[in-house]
Amino acid sequence: MTIERVELADPVVIGSGVAGLSVALGLPRATVLTVGSLGSTGWAQGGIAAAVGEDDTAELHASDTMTVSGGIAVQRAVEVLTAGGSKAIERLIELGAQFDLDDRGELKLGREAGHQRRRIVHADGDATGAEVQRTLSAAADVSDSVDVLEGWRMIDLLRDDLGVTGVLAVDSAGKIVAFDSPAVILATGGIGQIYRHTTNPAVVTGDGLAAASRVGARLADLEFVQFHPTGLMAGRDPMPLLTEALRGEGATLVDDRGRRFMLRHHPDAELAPRDVVARAIFWQHDKQAGAFLDARNVEDFPSRFPTVFAYAQEAGLDPREDLLPVSPAAHYFMGGIDAGSSGRSSVSGLWAVGEAASTGVHGANRLASNSLLEGLVFGALVAEDVHHAQGLGGRIGSWTAGLAECSLERPPEVDAVRQLMWERVGLVRTGNGLWDARNRLVELQPRLMGSIPGRVAFEVAALVTTAALRRSESRGGHYRADYPEPDSFQANRNLVEPIPKETE
Ligand code: SIN
Repeated sequence: MTIERVELADPVVIGSGVAGLSVALGLPRATVLTVGSLGSTGWAQGGIAAAVGEDDTAELHASDTMTVSGGIAVQRAVEVLTAGGSKAIERLIELGAQFDLDDRGELKLGREAGHQRRRIVHADGDATGAEVQRTLSAAADVSDSVDVLEGWRMIDLLRDDLGVTGVLAVDSAGKIVAFDSPAVILATGGIGQIYRHTTNPAVVTGDGLAAASRVGARLADLEFVQFHPTGLMAGRDPMPLLTEALRGEGATLVDDRGRRFMLRHHPDAELAPRDVVARAIFWQHDKQAGAFLDARNVEDFPSRFPTVFAYAQEAGLDPREDLLPVSPAAHYFMGGIDAGSSGRSSVSGLWAVGEAASTGVHGANRLASNSLLEGLVFGALVAEDVHHAQGLGGRIGSWTAGLAECSLERPPEVDAVRQLMWERVGLVRTGNGLWDARNRLVELQPRLMGSIPGRVAFEVAALVTTAALRRSESRGGHYRADYPEPDSFQANRNLVEPIPKETE
């Protein structure tokens, strides 16, 4: 097959969410390749955590982030993140973001689980991600230095003996192009779609992780998946999210007899760390005792939580009168491409940022509302690093053998993988279940590898399952029923060095 080649003189960013656009806007020139539809940023209801309140400090925010992380977050990365909070908010306001204000005209600060202070900045109640996306997309639109090419999905990374040299991508008409570029920044988001139940949009399939593994980039913490406790059980895929801010405003979790069940799981009850609440709900379903969010006491619901209100109405429910049936759903990936706060991967020419990266800033469990902040703070740092590191342009790399001939259709077996991951590699894992998942993936492999979406699903599922098997303890988002306690000998990050695949 003849593949068109396009030489880009500047860095190419894959993905146009908060992390990707923050990198692109920080560079003297950049091209952004994006599928174009809204990704996780646009859907984020939570907000941006930033220590901007009078009673708050970046140190306190760092300490909350460390506590929730299961003890393995990288302290230095956490300090960089939390110290950057107020500057990131100021920058967004300069770019035109409209955040919710209190009666004094100051930023109105909400509270979420794991935060000792009110420090969550919101826009339009529960539509913060949409406002961040609108602001950054508008800035990119008017910028002469950023070219956003919509309708492109990355298939693979191009490489030569020295490292990554560009990307292979396909447009919405099926045309495949090899873009050569001196620097590639993966801002492709997480892997939520590998699970049957997820709050992540359809485009969040782990393409960046899979492509990075094919070039042999070091990966980290792949067993740590965060399940959000409260997806709305309304028969929709992805599951509509019921933001945690509702619990911050006094909503409770009750069983099918109206009794609060979180009181027996954690002293902070509904505001316990997210993994604790998610597992408690999982067990409620396991014993068929029901799990509902009771938000009837939340004042001014429709105006304060318009997104959730609309979701509930679509499901025929009124949160002012009805209990909302909830289930956990895959929400955020703490693992990813191993990178420091500068975003550099272990392969020359390749950077990763945002949810695609694993900087260690979240450890085994992410503190609520730290992810938009991560995209903003680390996005700016990655741009600086890429700018100073450039200089290896003009190389023509190749892609993984056979990949350009794969079909672009999603095979039905991807649904089998999603179900398997939910049942065996989900909130409660066991050694037997994980081996079972591994064997079943091997059986499914031949029917997945002939298509790009199938292949990505296989690669991502295999990476997460293998990492989960390696960690025989429970920590943060990774819970092993056969090893329910943390083991201090395993209080480390898990790094994986995949073997690079052969190229054409
Ligand atoms: C939420 O609103 O509950 C999600 C916030 C987050 O994931 O940080």
